[in-house]
Amino acid sequence: MEKLGGIFNASSPEMTAMAGLTFFMIAIAVAIFVIVTGAILFIIIRYRKREGDDSEPEQYFGSLTAELVWTLIPTIIVGFLFFYTVKTMYAVDPPKGDREPDIVIIGHQWWWELIYPKSGVVTANEVHLPVGEKWLARLESVDAIHDFWVPELFRKIDLVPGHPNYIWLSSSKPGTYLGACAEFCGPQHANMRIRVIVQTREDFDAWQRQQLKFPTPPASGEAAMGAKLFNSMGCANCHLTDVGPNLTHISTRETIGAGVLTNTPENLKMWLLNPQAYKPGSYMPNMKLSEKQVNQVVAYLETLK
Ligand code: CUA
Repeated sequence: MEKLGGIFNASSPEMTAMAGLTFFMIAIAVAIFVIVTGAILFIIIRYRKREGDDSEPEQYFGSLTAELVWTLIPTIIVGFLFFYTVKTMYAVDPPKGDREPDIVIIGHQWWWELIYPKSGVVTANEVHLPVGEKWLARLESVDAIHDFWVPELFRKIDLVPGHPNYIWLSSSKPGTYLGACAEFCGPQHANMRIRVIVQTREDFDAWQRQQLKFPTPPASGEAAMGAKLFNSMGCANCHLTDVGPNLTHISTRETIGAGVLTNTPENLKMWLLNPQAYKPGSYMPNMKLSEKQVNQVVAYLETLK
């Protein structure tokens, strides 16, 4: 399975702000650790009990200077961290005002439904995002609590049934960023992967135009047989509604099963022959297709560009 990028590999202004705050806090914590540990070591060595010396150390009670030092310094540090944190929170989560969401992300056990309300594109598991733009996402869930997390780009955000949450999405450089569901949501929680594909505006527009075109139904051959099977076997009941991932443009996606397998005809075939072998517990049933039928369905799915 592909590895997620780390939070320190910040690739969006929001994550850069958060990584800056995190590094700053770590630096302060390390400095305090070194000073306190150093002072303890120095004192226990320098003032240790020596052989033949039974005298008591000098005793005194109360010191205004000491009280001031150990009250003021921590107050200043915590106060500064407080303001730095508030500033970072504001940079990461500015108020959304009356802006409508650019994308709606709906958590399902165990995949992500993605709706682009402004264009009408509906897809799954792979978020396409234009580079340098700041998008507002609304996050919902139809079942359990999920959590949308792409460490290099965004903070974590829960998808709570009945309570939409909002987050800003942006990225400063094109590329593919991996993410995962970060809230335990059932047996296939680990296989609820996210890909964020950050593209230039032109590439994004081209992708969007492609997604809005309805693929031409195959007229004849294996693919046409597959199309017939797809409709008669009941695949469409889930996959053309929002019960299962929308497959209208499945062959343009990079993975199947929300990141379980790369999207190749061979993998699609293996998946269709026994989905439970790759994603046990998922709601994709074994349709008990024959080898020939599977080849036909795969041929059809490959036409869905
Ligand atoms: Cu969805 Cu964990």
